[in-house]
Amino acid sequence: MFPDVRLRRLRRTETLRRMVRETTLTPNDLIQPLFIVEGAGVKEPIGSLPGQFHWSVDAVTDEAADLFQLGVPAVILFGVPDEKDPLGKQAYDPNGVIQRAIKAIKDKTPDLVVIGDVCLCEYTDHGHCGVIKDHRVDNDATLDLLVEMSLAQVRAGVDVVAPSDMMDGRVGAIREALDENGFTETVIMSYAAKYASAFYGPFREAAGSAPAFGDRKSYQMDPANVREALRECDLDVAEGADIIMVKPAMAFMDVIRAVAETFDLPLAAYNVSGEYAMVKAAGERGWIDEEKIALEILTGIKRAGADMILTYFAKDIARKLAG
Ligand code: PBG
Repeated sequence: MFPDVRLRRLRRTETLRRMVRETTLTPNDLIQPLFIVEGAGVKEPIGSLPGQFHWSVDAVTDEAADLFQLGVPAVILFGVPDEKDPLGKQAYDPNGVIQRAIKAIKDKTPDLVVIGDVCLCEYTDHGHCGVIKDHRVDNDATLDLLVEMSLAQVRAGVDVVAPSDMMDGRVGAIREALDENGFTETVIMSYAAKYASAFYGPFREAAGSAPAFGDRKSYQMDPANVREALRECDLDVAEGADIIMVKPAMAFMDVIRAVAETFDLPLAAYNVSGEYAMVKAAGERGWIDEEKIALEILTGIKRAGADMILTYFAKDIARKLAG
């Protein structure tokens, strides 16, 4: 008890604080999302995500190489095709923008881990994450397309497929198809506990993927639930996921902690577009110190139990940590 115990002793100098620090963020923890569009020489700022860009395939390869140079081990790719249709055909076309980007990035930077987001909403004209039947997203019909999309990405050279659609049974369907086609080494990073969140707003503007009618509440999780998150993770692990994810991160720290304590798999957390945009907006106004806030948020997500963080801050923070 005080005065014998004085916790401030170990906080006296920066070096002492360094010695007792429990959580250290490194570039190894970070995964940078990248949006790929058609065209050549494109590096177009995204209005809803200041500091982020739409990249054409030829332009994104340098960015990916830079990220790897900065110590970021992985990128996750989102395709934003010109052509969208009810079945999201560009998602599994071998010449689709996402497939070409995977190949180009792996050709230039083979050691960078390339993750493909597997979901139809950026590719469908209705903006839903699956096949529409009677105004509903049809679960089982969607599985076939997610399988096709995963195979197309793996054939293009992707290291990790990351299903983000929240259909039931998709991890098992993808794992089975990968195995049948000889792709036994492909990692599945499953968006296992993905909530129906308003924090995805800026992403949907960037990807043109806002649903044309209704919302995603019949497939993404209710933000009020945590037990259900453990069931989702349980199933995805049983179906063959190698890495599981909680998304979003900041308002779901308790979910990250619960999943980290319950499962032995590596755990990812997605610090999503709305979380990033809020920090950028307040930072631009001078209301907060953007860089310090970003570091505090990412450290908090890691402290909560995440082993890796998908974040639009990856490049800036990796540069900061390196320098
Ligand atoms: C695709 C997908 C979304 C995000 C990642 N994958 C959007 C959504 O579910 O509407 C959101 C990422 C972000 O907000 O940064 N389904």
